[in-house]
Amino acid sequence: MNTNSAVSCTGLTYVFGETKAVDGLDLTVREGEVFGLLGPNGAGKTTAIRCITTLLPVPPGMVHVFGNDASGDKMAVRRLLGYVPQQLSADASLTGRQNVTLFARVFDVARRERAERVRQALTAVGLADAADRLAGTYSGGMVRRLELAQALVSAPRLLILDEPTIGLDPIARTGVWEHINAVRAATGMTVLVTTHYMDEADQYCDRVGLMHHGRVRALGTPLELRRGLAERRSGTDVPTGPLPTLEDVFRDVAGGGLDDEPGGFRDVRSTRRTARRVG
Ligand SMILES: Nc1ncnc2c1ncn2[C@@H]1O[C@H](COP(=O)(O)OP(=O)(O)O)[C@@H](O)[C@H]1O
Ligand SMILES: [Mg+2]
Repeated sequence: MNTNSAVSCTGLTYVFGETKAVDGLDLTVREGEVFGLLGPNGAGKTTAIRCITTLLPVPPGMVHVFGNDASGDKMAVRRLLGYVPQQLSADASLTGRQNVTLFARVFDVARRERAERVRQALTAVGLADAADRLAGTYSGGMVRRLELAQALVSAPRLLILDEPTIGLDPIARTGVWEHINAVRAATGMTVLVTTHYMDEADQYCDRVGLMHHGRVRALGTPLELRRGLAERRSGTDVPTGPLPTLEDVFRDVAGGGLDDEPGGFRDVRSTRRTARRVG
């Protein structure tokens, strides 16, 4: 285990009945980086994330968060992280401020600091003006930013986001990322994000892991992975022409077949009805 890492998974395996959702996952997220776990629906991203957040039980030694074993003191791990789950976590019948206050209470933000910390979190995601409206009146992008504020109110060292931009229009997607990056610049927080939007990962992630059938199949900076494929294709280390995209890299490591599978890239209809339901 690397104690300098924010997250380390060693041979992480998680089985649901007959399905090996995560199958020997090795993964290190370095402190301070934005790490993207990429892959089509069904790759095992959410299951891996839920193991890291201690929401699913893991045996000792498989998952560490800032050196804490996720099978041991779960509260110690949970105190270090903020989590935006794939499913909706905001309540439409409460205002933005009430939603964030609820999380501040659950995460044990000291009572006398609470109002100010809630205000800061809402301001950080650009919701100061909408704070006292019901979340049910928010757009999809605003709901996602509200969930970001909920995760940020406890000032986590590690922010984990599961498909933060799924189902959002391009402007709302950019908005979510801009707010994440602003908080990161201010606090040095580490970010672990899952997405199947390869273009987004290319733009915003320091390093990415391409996950397929429960395991990381390729790892590196987006540019390293794209250059690596260009070199393999051309058989030279100074390939010419436009670089392949991250999606090309993924098709290469997954060995084709990606499009035929349920959950392949052609099947990226929003699985997140939730944002729209509230929005
Ligand atoms: N609660 C569950 N019960 C049974 N199977 C599950 C459950 N959650 C996920 N799976 C299965 O595990 C595999 C990985 O799912 P998941 O981790 O949600 O992938 P991803 O987040 O990459 O889309 C899929 O085959 C999925 O059907
Ligand atoms: Mg998922």
